[in-house]
Amino acid sequence: MFPLNQWYVAGFSWELSDKPLARTLLNNRVVMFRTAAGEVAALEDRCCHKSLPLSCGTVEERGVRCGYHGLLFAPSGACLEVPGQDRIPIKARVKSFTLVEKDQILWIWMPAEDGTAPTHDAPDYWVHSDPRYTFKGDVFHYNAPYQLIHDNLLDLSHLGYVHLKTIGGNAKVHMNAELKVEAAGDQVRVLRYMPNSAPPPTYTGAWPFKGNIDRWQEVEFNVSHLNIWTGGADIGTEDMRDPHRGGFHMRGFHAITPETDTTAHYMWTMATNPHPDKEDVGQLVYEQTALTFYEDKVIIEAQYENMKRFPNAPQIDIHVDVGPNRARRVIEKLLKQNEIAAAAPAPLQPVAQAAPSVSV
Ligand code: FES
Ligand SMILES: [Fe+2]
Repeated sequence: MFPLNQWYVAGFSWELSDKPLARTLLNNRVVMFRTAAGEVAALEDRCCHKSLPLSCGTVEERGVRCGYHGLLFAPSGACLEVPGQDRIPIKARVKSFTLVEKDQILWIWMPAEDGTAPTHDAPDYWVHSDPRYTFKGDVFHYNAPYQLIHDNLLDLSHLGYVHLKTIGGNAKVHMNAELKVEAAGDQVRVLRYMPNSAPPPTYTGAWPFKGNIDRWQEVEFNVSHLNIWTGGADIGTEDMRDPHRGGFHMRGFHAITPETDTTAHYMWTMATNPHPDKEDVGQLVYEQTALTFYEDKVIIEAQYENMKRFPNAPQIDIHVDVGPNRARRVIEKLLKQNEIAAAAPAPLQPVAQAAPSVSV
């Protein structure tokens, strides 16, 4: 169901407090915590003694302590302490996952085979560390499979119908926007430009536009997350193809991590460049974004409910589906690669040779 040997987002730095955090990721029940030394860790959320979730326990200096009989587990999953006995049984260990903290994002490596190390570094997200931007985010839960959220984010033509109160705008302008889809490797980019269009409510609330604006939407799909840069500038003042352009920016980080085959986590942040003449822009943009994403959640969950009511009904494609379809092909390709790798016979082990006898 999900491409493996990938980094997925497990959460955000600010979610790890003094308590363990439980979350199901790609059908794995995981507990995350941070040690006193600042190390982040993810373990299978099951004590190897009598199966209590470790997330029912407490975080201590060296690891997580089970809340039933007090076994203490290190970030590696090794048992460090069995209260009341000196000997630690050899099998006293829980499965661990590689968890990396970068730019306030917790990335978890999901291997195709248990215990295999990451083949590449976790992604960077520079926006969270750029002083020009202020950001805030949240974690939403979806009763819908992850790919329906990909579809939604790769096709922003829905803004004119779903998000009229926030970042929407004229539906006709959205549906007729110039659209370009590019694909390279496992990445898909959808670029949309809407010159001379009316700024929607979120934009006018956050930025003192003079009238109509040149508006852009640049969506970059990666297997586990999408980076979406949207914004606008007073007509004719900025080159919409210039990566350093000014104007009002909304930079969205959208991590879509499957929870189960039919549910997903949507972990997002929205960053903006506050205008000096406007107050509390960061908060306004965050609140408007949360409202917008709730609108998407309602639509996507209703869509999935109906797909279950009509399980065999065919769907059609229209012009706005090019981006989502490209992303689906990437996922299909990766699933196939995982399948082929899983089916491949294990490499032959060299036959142990008896050591030659040496005579002197
Ligand atoms: S169930 Fe965890 S210590 Fe007993
Ligand atoms: Fe939306």
